[in-house]
Amino acid sequence: MEADGGGDRDAIRRMFAGIAPRYDLLNRLLSAGRDRYWRRRAVAQAELPPGGLALDVCTGTADVALQLAKQFPSAKSIVGVDFCLPMLRLGADKIARVGLAHRIQLHAASAEALPFEAGTFDVATIAFGIRNVINQKRGLAELNRVLRPGGRAIILEFATPQGPLFGRLYRFYFRRMLPWLGGLISGNRDAYSYLPASVSRFPSPWELAGLMEEVGFRDVQIWALTGGIVTLHVGRKSA
Ligand SMILES: C[S@@+](CC[C@H](N)C(=O)[O-])C[C@H]1O[C@@H](n2cnc3c(N)ncnc32)[C@H](O)[C@@H]1O
Repeated sequence: MEADGGGDRDAIRRMFAGIAPRYDLLNRLLSAGRDRYWRRRAVAQAELPPGGLALDVCTGTADVALQLAKQFPSAKSIVGVDFCLPMLRLGADKIARVGLAHRIQLHAASAEALPFEAGTFDVATIAFGIRNVINQKRGLAELNRVLRPGGRAIILEFATPQGPLFGRLYRFYFRRMLPWLGGLISGNRDAYSYLPASVSRFPSPWELAGLMEEVGFRDVQIWALTGGIVTLHVGRKSA
């Protein structure tokens, strides 16, 4: 294993390759369709100007990139990056099916080493991705680097709802039922056990906001969606 988690990185890439064919179906099913609403809410924060450029990191099957193209028809271009080719291939098929290949480009790249010059993008999004990145601080610093001064970073991620009743019910669903159901449908129970385990290891919304500030974001705002199942962070690169 590499010193900074290279072996873990390969395991994560292989895990996503394994579940790629059922990934979209399971997103819809396991979230009862809420995942679409979460992405729409995130993209609504983008304020992408006409002719603007957006980057979607950990784009997977390109749902956020597609949403950006739909919600900002006058944006120039949306670039999606991910290190898992089977996820990207499914994303490319979806983009081609809706005739948006001229506006959305997908590239294989790591979130921790983005192949773009500093100051390139107006907006950078990462949905359900940063939790999987081995070096999260480096991933956030890369988002910051590729944004133009004043550009916005939008981070959507699972969290752990705290309310006494809803929190307990949700934790039962997320930790017990979801791995079973996800395993049954995807044939990969480990991947759907990894999901709640990775959420419980992930920094709290306040800690994530702190990390964003450490790498140079300002005015970080946090929204809790659907009772705190998901949080949305928006920060601005210092001008
Ligand atoms: C849970 S999926 C999210 C996909 C998509 N953003 C969505 O909203 O459905 C996480 C994605 O992050 C990718 N990923 C994880 N670590 C990565 C890294 N270090 N660099 C690039 N992609 C990564 C995985 O390959 C996977 O496609």
